[in-house]
Amino acid sequence: MKLENPWKQNPWFESVAVAQQRARKRLPAPVYGALVAGSERGQTVADNQAAFAELGVAPHVAGLRADRVMGTSVMGQEISLPVLISPTGVQAVHPDGEVAVARAAASRGTVMGLSNFASKSVEEVIATGARTFFQMYWTGDRDVVVQRMQRAHVAGALGLIATLDWSFSMGRDWGSPEIPEKVDLKTMVRMAPKVATKPRWLWEFGRTGQIPDLTAPNLAPPGGEAPTFFSAYYEWMTTPPPSWDDVAWMSDQWAQISGGKPFMLKGVCRIDDALRARDAGAQAISVSNHGGNNLDGTPAAIRMVKPIADAVGGDLDVVMDGGIRRGSDVVKAVALGARAVMIGRAYLWGLAANGEQGVGNVLDVLRSGIDSALLGLGVASLEELTPEHLLVPEGFHRALGVPPAHVASVPVAATTAG
Ligand SMILES: Cc1cc2nc3c(=O)[nH]c(=O)nc-3n(C[C@H](O)[C@H](O)[C@H](O)COP(=O)(O)O)c2cc1C
Repeated sequence: MKLENPWKQNPWFESVAVAQQRARKRLPAPVYGALVAGSERGQTVADNQAAFAELGVAPHVAGLRADRVMGTSVMGQEISLPVLISPTGVQAVHPDGEVAVARAAASRGTVMGLSNFASKSVEEVIATGARTFFQMYWTGDRDVVVQRMQRAHVAGALGLIATLDWSFSMGRDWGSPEIPEKVDLKTMVRMAPKVATKPRWLWEFGRTGQIPDLTAPNLAPPGGEAPTFFSAYYEWMTTPPPSWDDVAWMSDQWAQISGGKPFMLKGVCRIDDALRARDAGAQAISVSNHGGNNLDGTPAAIRMVKPIADAVGGDLDVVMDGGIRRGSDVVKAVALGARAVMIGRAYLWGLAANGEQGVGNVLDVLRSGIDSALLGLGVASLEELTPEHLLVPEGFHRALGVPPAHVASVPVAATTAG
């Protein structure tokens, strides 16, 4: 009789925090550090999560609803829970990378956001059957932008996410992880001490016969080779930043190429920018500070949701991302006016902890947390949630960039500066 090891770790995890602990144990320090990310003094990345803890809930004791549903739609796609996969370059976390994330998203009835810096091609990801929104930065000239949009459309992308909130901040107070230019034998030998202590991660890559791929296949020229992550980053750094006319051009080009598929502007922090995004033709925005990786000192994304949703929620799908780690965070965001949320690190921890199953596990943890919160709050659907279901401390909301016409109607700390 074969004896089962009773102390073997159950690969299932009960919370995103446990997934993160496992990711930390499993990943080489530089890879883990690249996911922790953050910028400058880390004020924004910390506030993204801390702000959720400032919000309380007011549960009922009886009269709760047995008929709860959490399906919704974003950019025309029906999703079975109000959580989408936010695009991240998940280079070197897991050999299956974005393909594993896409499979998990599809199996849980939600949409995959695929980064243009991803380690897998848009064709490979869409071949999993996952409904996919392709994300682009403003990099390269207009012809290159059009060519990349055409490729995403031909591959079957159902929407485009333009992420424009990036200011190339360099330098973190806790130091940045080393990212090699290329993972060749020389690099492997040099980084061996950091990697050798992580046999499980190494084994995963060894099993598939792959070494971590630090190239960006979605940025390859037609018929050409995928650029390295660094040459792709260089192209981006040396591209002049986009104007609002460029945003309108981008959304218009995508509409023409795709036959009217939706366009999201990700990274909106200010009411004036939300209004401009709407006027530039976006059908959706994500209220986001890039997970605290862009300009440090930007308020937590959840603090900016209500003022922006109040201003444009009737015209656009307003989603948010940044700091979501549990189902009750999702419910808080929806109660403050978001249609859904997008997750970044939460699924990256799941991917590192247990591949495709780990990402599915994270979505299941969020689903069950959302359901508990709806139960406790005595509501049967997302549409019933309002700010009155929450305890919101005074001064919680941050209304940035309030246009003069709006000032009188915004009763919170507001600024028109910038
Ligand atoms: C490691 C890492 C890589 C990221 N890469 C991208 C990217 O390529 N494109 C993009 O639009 N956002 C990128 N983001 C931002 C995420 O899409 C998202 O805005 C952020 O992770 C949300 O915060 P959260 O991690 O607290 O959920 C990245 C975030 C992380 C942590």
